[in-house]
Amino acid sequence: MTDEFALTDIPGVGAATAEKLAAAGYSTLMSIAVATPAELVEAAGVSESAARKMINFSRDKLEMGFESGEEVLKKRARVEKIPTGSTAFDTLLNGGFETGSISEVFGEFGSGKTQLAHILTVNVQKMDPENYVVYIDTENTFRPERIIELAKAAGLDPEQVLKHIMVARAYNSDHQMLLAEKVEDLAVKQGLKVKLVVVDSLTAHFRAEFIGRGTLADRQQKLNKHMHTLMKLADKLNACVLVTNQVMAKPDTFFGDPTQAIGGHIVAHASTFRIYLRKGKKGSRVAKLIDSPNLPEGEAAFMVTTGGLKDLK
Ligand code: GTP
Ligand code: MG
Repeated sequence: MTDEFALTDIPGVGAATAEKLAAAGYSTLMSIAVATPAELVEAAGVSESAARKMINFSRDKLEMGFESGEEVLKKRARVEKIPTGSTAFDTLLNGGFETGSISEVFGEFGSGKTQLAHILTVNVQKMDPENYVVYIDTENTFRPERIIELAKAAGLDPEQVLKHIMVARAYNSDHQMLLAEKVEDLAVKQGLKVKLVVVDSLTAHFRAEFIGRGTLADRQQKLNKHMHTLMKLADKLNACVLVTNQVMAKPDTFFGDPTQAIGGHIVAHASTFRIYLRKGKKGSRVAKLIDSPNLPEGEAAFMVTTGGLKDLK
């Protein structure tokens, strides 16, 4: 792909505009090509017609790579689905969490994001004991004891399951980004069949480090780069990339749920599946599917139990 272009190669984009764009996470032609005019207007303070021209130029420059529908279908055929253990949740996802793309799970503390990550870590190995999991743990909440419990319930050998999980603690956002960049190498050099990459939490370090620094744009730029690394990983390894994300209060919302995911459009755009988790009645959890490309929006309720996810009775 020809991403060698500098932003200033786009007609009408001078150094100042290029800087603003890059600061907002639009640092490559590709990111401009897939942006909407409104987003660029907001990011760089350019007029809407200028934004349109920038987008059109970027689209022309990049061979946007047409594939026949048949080829796409072939690629889709290699998609595997990791079941959750709850029929309702699986039905919502048309079978489970897909390989080959990023799924974002967001929700408030205690909504079950880390539990879900543990459960998928075991379930992906139930599909094939040769499958490996890379678990990037930013909050020190990975628990081998919990894996053992879940593995036993799934009828797997807990020792084998633990052996197939490569855990890395990420101490800050730079470390986290570096770890993600190393995954492909790890998989290829060691010949590991990595089918699931967990990043729990995707945004906690970014959020903590950039708080109050007035540099939201820097944060978004780094987050954008990180998401691109993860996207490539999902595609190249045909792995499911599961990222968790917290929510923040959205004070201007009067109707509906007054929360939104951290990371804004950058995380949302990079994720193919977005699932909002919340606490339901009597200790249950509710998953809501949000802007999926090929599935209807909907909700599923389930319980987190010792043995994994279960449907409500
Ligand atoms: P944050 O990381 O704080 O944002 O929360 P989270 O969304 O990751 O929440 P987490 O997955 O840690 O969910 C915590 C909830 O899962 C608890 O309130 C429990 O209800 C449930 N839970 C945690 N551990 C277990 C366990 O070992 N067995 C069972 N049955 N439930 C558990
Ligand atoms: Mg958690």
